[in-house]
Amino acid sequence: MKTMKAAKVKKHGEIGENCWSIWLEASEIVDEVNPGQFIHVKLNNGEKLLPRPLSICETDTSSNTLRLVYAVVGKGTEALSQVKTGETLRILGPLGNGFDINQSASKSIIVGGGMGIPPLLELSKNIPGKKEIYLGYSSTPFLLEEFEKQNADIYVSTDDGCFGYKGTVIDLMRYNNAQGDSLYSCGPKPMLKALSGWAEKNKIPAQVSLEERMACGVGACLVCTCKVKKENENDWKHQRVCADGPVFRSQEVVWDE
Ligand code: FES
Repeated sequence: MKTMKAAKVKKHGEIGENCWSIWLEASEIVDEVNPGQFIHVKLNNGEKLLPRPLSICETDTSSNTLRLVYAVVGKGTEALSQVKTGETLRILGPLGNGFDINQSASKSIIVGGGMGIPPLLELSKNIPGKKEIYLGYSSTPFLLEEFEKQNADIYVSTDDGCFGYKGTVIDLMRYNNAQGDSLYSCGPKPMLKALSGWAEKNKIPAQVSLEERMACGVGACLVCTCKVKKENENDWKHQRVCADGPVFRSQEVVWDE
């Protein structure tokens, strides 16, 4: 069973509007990370805040560090944003399944929306072959420099049109006639639902990483369930996003809730 471990903060700061990047020393974890997995992060200062699930943005095995990129959305992430370099956090992980990378794909499509974008950086580093990466932001992009270092064609959309294509990332994919034989995505549920329809229409197998509210993060509390179709049946079952996911095949997710 995984247990909480100490993780020293190596670097921490705001990299965009309400967008924070934190590098943690995580020597016992970093080698095990599969792209798309997450960790639970807990402050080490006696605060009685629940641990926060944060997706792993990237790893650096040469320095035994991993990076999280997050937005401040409540008390937990607000408190996290105050943590200074050199302080120590408690972390649990890596958790969840992560993406199942198709090693024989000739071209992959990677699609991220908002705070679903960070885990796709580690994924992009690990996907072989040609890649088209679509990144959808509400406004000013973040992590763009890091994605541009990947050997990929990068396309950006913003809701307000301040950068790249003005509109949704799905509109941009349609406009660009996105091509590939594997698709990976992470972002808000309406985006993933629309993407699932697009992938089905274009006969491209797609994996989606769901963002659900979590508590325990290890499959015990059932706070994070989603509906998944049963195989060979016209029926569905509940699955835990934290333990059975967060990555699912798009065609097995029951979207209409
Ligand atoms: Fe507790 Fe998923 S967060 S079961």
